[in-house]
Amino acid sequence: MSELIQVELKGQILSITLARPDKKNALTVAMYRALTDAIDRADSDPQIRVVHITGTADSFSSGNDLSDFLAASQSQQSGDNPAQCLLHRLNSFNKPIVAAVNGMAIGIGTTLLLHCDLVYAARSARFQLPFVDLGLVPEGGSSAILPAMLGHRRAAELLLACESLDATQAVDCGIVNRVCDDSELQAFSWQQAEKLAAKPPAAIQQAKAMLKHNPSKPLAQVIDDEIELFLKRLRSPEAAEAMAAFMERRKPDYSRF
Ligand code: COA
Repeated sequence: MSELIQVELKGQILSITLARPDKKNALTVAMYRALTDAIDRADSDPQIRVVHITGTADSFSSGNDLSDFLAASQSQQSGDNPAQCLLHRLNSFNKPIVAAVNGMAIGIGTTLLLHCDLVYAARSARFQLPFVDLGLVPEGGSSAILPAMLGHRRAAELLLACESLDATQAVDCGIVNRVCDDSELQAFSWQQAEKLAAKPPAAIQQAKAMLKHNPSKPLAQVIDDEIELFLKRLRSPEAAEAMAAFMERRKPDYSRF
């Protein structure tokens, strides 16, 4: 585990902090591996319901470590790239991820967010995808996700013109849910993570999987698949607890699931 990635279990939330502030939280190979290990841990431990990820000082992440990029250009092949491993793990991870973008988010610092579920940004946060300016091409699924989210022309502003966004513009684009005052970001995003952690875990994981994987299916198929899953969930102990709690006018308790 790299000490530049701090991982701590707080209740049912796995807290991940990018902690290389002197290099603006640029991500090294060791940091990608530590992040992938943390996601694996969150996946396999049923007590972990939500992942919360944030940066330190004035940076969320300045993207891939540029020295590592140079070294990798000599050796790595597609398929054995640690960033690619992390992105695949994130893409198949069904527990909710809440990101708190405390400062600049550049390159994979932004594309990582496209794989999170709730993203909150400090008013001072900045976002940029400067791949083309570095002689590179978009990564992290961004060449598909951003045109689907924004349409070609707005995606081109980010991925071809490499224009940066402030926090409000990132909300307009749908990359960020909400702007928070810098001093309130951590408390607010943590509160949101706690809200998700208190929900029925199997239902939220199934719902996330549906949100991520339905868009490619024909709508008629989506309607049928939803009904099948819905009826299964209706017979689940989580749904029984939700409905009993409603009838008994108490808060539901999903801690035993
Ligand atoms: N890779 C490696 N080192 C990085 C880095 C990165 N992606 N981003 C910042 N650093 C290092 C700088 O080299 C500097 O190191 P030093 O103190 O040993 O000289 C340190 O972090 C501080 O960065 P600095 O440029 O002095 O800070 P700044 O506030 O003036 O600018 C950035 C911050 C993030 C705007 C600027 O560093 C930058 O543009 N970084 C590159 C971003 C990038 O292109 N990422 C790849 C995307 S694909």
